[in-house]
Amino acid sequence: MHWLYNGTMDMEVLREILAMLPTGVMLADEDGAVVFANRAALEYLGVDESSLKEINVDGLMDRDSSRKETMVRTRGSERLTIRLSRHPLADGHSVVFLSDITEIHQLQNEILKMDKLASVGELTSGIAHEIRNPLAGIKTTAQALNAELDPGDHRRDYVSRIIIEIDRLNKLLMGFFDFARPGELSIIPCELSKIVENAVYMVRDTARENHVQIIEFHPPRKVVSKADPHMIQQVLMNVLINAIQAMEFGGRLEIHLTERGERMEIQISDTGKGIPDHVKGRIFDPFFTTKPKGIGLGLSISYRIVKMHSGNITFVSNPGGTTFVITLPKDPGKVR
Ligand SMILES: Nc1ncnc2c1ncn2[C@@H]1O[C@H](COP(=O)(O)OP(=O)(O)O)[C@@H](O)[C@H]1O
Ligand SMILES: [Mg+2]
Repeated sequence: MHWLYNGTMDMEVLREILAMLPTGVMLADEDGAVVFANRAALEYLGVDESSLKEINVDGLMDRDSSRKETMVRTRGSERLTIRLSRHPLADGHSVVFLSDITEIHQLQNEILKMDKLASVGELTSGIAHEIRNPLAGIKTTAQALNAELDPGDHRRDYVSRIIIEIDRLNKLLMGFFDFARPGELSIIPCELSKIVENAVYMVRDTARENHVQIIEFHPPRKVVSKADPHMIQQVLMNVLINAIQAMEFGGRLEIHLTERGERMEIQISDTGKGIPDHVKGRIFDPFFTTKPKGIGLGLSISYRIVKMHSGNITFVSNPGGTTFVITLPKDPGKVR
């Protein structure tokens, strides 16, 4: 290569390369006075070549080369964060590198902010509280308006629609609260068979409307577990309703409750449309839903509740149907 002779690089070429470098490079003498700075360094310092001699790196940063320091300066309306690092050379000079870490810095701040929110729960409960009261006011007003309209007035339709939408928002808010509620379980001895029966009872009308047949299989003997019956019922209802909703044209929903040593297993299978592969990894995420009117909290809440019982919830799914398997220790206190 023509600019390399006797193994030495041509100074002009070196300068050109340094000028192109996005990293700032400065050379300072023994006293810290800057004797050279490339284009990026001048830009980061906000000076031109003529005022270079006024700059002393000892004023910019500590002599201790191992320490990295940051400098903040403004360029127009922009705030730049520049990182400087100083490295001594054998002859007493030192090199200072300057890099623009504005973006990294912003990202770090972003992450810190998100960390502060800590969990979706904290965020959602805050918002939910803010929305709940005005919403209640809107609903009362809409109901009052409805009462003033004649039964035949077509405007009643509009008001009813407002009320329906408010109720939907309220349901969403309840979901937020469930999600945000700090996990206080109230564990008591109970029979999972009874909880399954109750959950099925709660969804039976929906099942009938959707032409879904529910079949329950219970263990032959009475088994007592320690669990929070309301929470477990909530889990079962979430999974049952999802199963019913997956069977748009009717189908069969089977629930198998089985005793397996120290654990109980609840299998809930549907003959619905199944969970597409690209969706499988996300169904337990808060607010993940594929339904036009879904909220996407059912499974994430269920997951939390099951985990709080030291249990497990998994599923297998194909286009012919889905099976959710929930295992719960008979005594969560004994698991660890
Ligand atoms: N039995 C099931 N069959 C098919 N898809 C399911 C089933 N259960 C859950 N899903 C999928 O998981 C998503 C998340 O469920 P969930 O957390 O209960 O929220 P939501 O029911 O409000 O959508 C659903 O939108 C659906 O795509
Ligand atoms: Mg659901």
